[in-house]
Amino acid sequence: MSSKFGRLAEYPRVPLSVVPTVIEPAPKLSAELGLNLSIKRDDLTGLAFGGNKTRQLEFYFGAAQAEGADTIVITGAVQSNYVRVAAAAAARLGMDIHVQSEERVPDVDATYCQSGNVLLGDLLGVHRHAYPVGEDEAGADKAVQAIADNLRDNGRRPYVIPLAPGHQPTGALGYVITAGEIVAQLQSSGASIDTIVLGSGSGFTHAGLLFGLRALEQETVVHGICVRRNAEAQAARIAR
Ligand SMILES: Cc1ncc(COP(=O)(O)O)c(C=O)c1O
Repeated sequence: MSSKFGRLAEYPRVPLSVVPTVIEPAPKLSAELGLNLSIKRDDLTGLAFGGNKTRQLEFYFGAAQAEGADTIVITGAVQSNYVRVAAAAAARLGMDIHVQSEERVPDVDATYCQSGNVLLGDLLGVHRHAYPVGEDEAGADKAVQAIADNLRDNGRRPYVIPLAPGHQPTGALGYVITAGEIVAQLQSSGASIDTIVLGSGSGFTHAGLLFGLRALEQETVVHGICVRRNAEAQAARIAR
């Protein structure tokens, strides 16, 4: 790990990801779009179909294990990828997991509530709590803490993985490290990139990559496409 990442190596971390993931050229899509596009295959990080969350969860599960937790508590949309990967990590590490399912998406049919990530979560043994209020990040954050309090009152040792602002951006550390991975891959292949485009929700992927790249003196533009709020609100969140 680069010495430019300061004390990052001191943070507890549980290895969960299959990394480095490849950077794969996409020649047909590049020709279609008139640019030179490659894809960093973080869909291949592993753990119940992988995705960007696997790298983030290494640090949350590291912190949870360091403080002796036996139960993970997490909140997310009903079909959250984050929840699916967290459930797989908990199963691998022999921990319980309580999931608060936020009913953020209006007008869904029964399939949305039962299939895909919901079904996988059930197979992985999640305990589910409904949060039927709709889009309400602050309320969901409070409610998930209440689930943890209740577990504590019943003798469990819960660790909450929060997504709302106001908590330490622990998940972003996974993408600070990924910045180093990308820079090393480009150096060894001789390729160069000027822009990274990614999905941005909690902002941990976006903020972590941006921070890591700047720490490594890379000027690469990191362009996030926010799935939850407008660009102005998301930019303020990333900056914070
Ligand atoms: C596939 C995918 N990419 C990107 C994101 C955004 O990641 P982050 O929450 O780190 O901003 C999400 C979740 O919102 C996601 O499921």
